[in-house]
Amino acid sequence: MSDLSISRQFWPSQVVMEVRDASKTYLSGANAVHALTDMTLALRAGELTGIVGPSGSGKTTFLMIAGLLEPPSTGSVHFRDQPIAHAHTHLNSLRDFRRTHVGFIFQKANLIPFLTAIENVQIALEINDIRPKAARARARELLAQFGLDHREDNYPSQLSGGEQQRVSIARALANDPVLLLADEPTAALDGGRGRQVMEVFRTLADERRVAVCVVTHDPRWSDIFDRIVEMSDGRMVSTRPGGALKARLEL
Ligand SMILES: Nc1ncnc2c1ncn2[C@@H]1O[C@H](COP(=O)(O)OP(=O)(O)OP(=O)(O)O)[C@@H](O)[C@H]1O
Ligand SMILES: [Mg+2]
Repeated sequence: MSDLSISRQFWPSQVVMEVRDASKTYLSGANAVHALTDMTLALRAGELTGIVGPSGSGKTTFLMIAGLLEPPSTGSVHFRDQPIAHAHTHLNSLRDFRRTHVGFIFQKANLIPFLTAIENVQIALEINDIRPKAARARARELLAQFGLDHREDNYPSQLSGGEQQRVSIARALANDPVLLLADEPTAALDGGRGRQVMEVFRTLADERRVAVCVVTHDPRWSDIFDRIVEMSDGRMVSTRPGGALKARLEL
């Protein structure tokens, strides 16, 4: 596992990842799609940020840039105040960094179809040099946390959409990331399971100081966020405190 004493060391700003003045333009045929325009957002240790906005407003694009899965077309990305990516960064070179520090939950579960539930989680650990026995034990623990102990040996095609999504959440948490980015993680879950997942995120922010950023359409979670960022047409149009911050400040 990554060296947590290093990965959780103190740095002054507590900003884990910051996207600065980032724009993203996709070329689709002869057309340019401006998916993101001049977006600046810092994700801090211990903070749970919600991102809301209509379909096509740039939410996934922002997460992909913050998670170092897509380079911005202009602007930059900073990790703990150090520049880490810009338009010309070859993101393959950051693959190891990403595996160790970033957990990403995709809008679709994205599981490996020929591996069972437990193997899908286990492989994320083994890639980071965790021995198979320890990786299996940790994978088992994570699956149990999301109520999937009885589904360990099922292949993704034998799992419901919500179960697949929970396996992908377990996989994202496997390496104890300092940054967790989740794209509509509760969309396939019923209300109770959805809340359970959001509460795990809250606990990770509070107890492990993880910077967590969650894209959601679900207004039920606004009490769990510290702040809610609203996007429209590729731009950040407002930021407001969420219920968790209001409760702390007794607003
Ligand atoms: N790879 C791509 N190539 C071309 N256009 C893209 C690509 N990815 C995203 N876009 C476009 O960029 C815009 C923003 O997309 P994005 O996926 O970030 O929106 P979103 O807010 O996540 O929407 P949703 O709520 O539907 O998931 C959309 O107009 C989309 O069609
Ligand atoms: Mg999206």
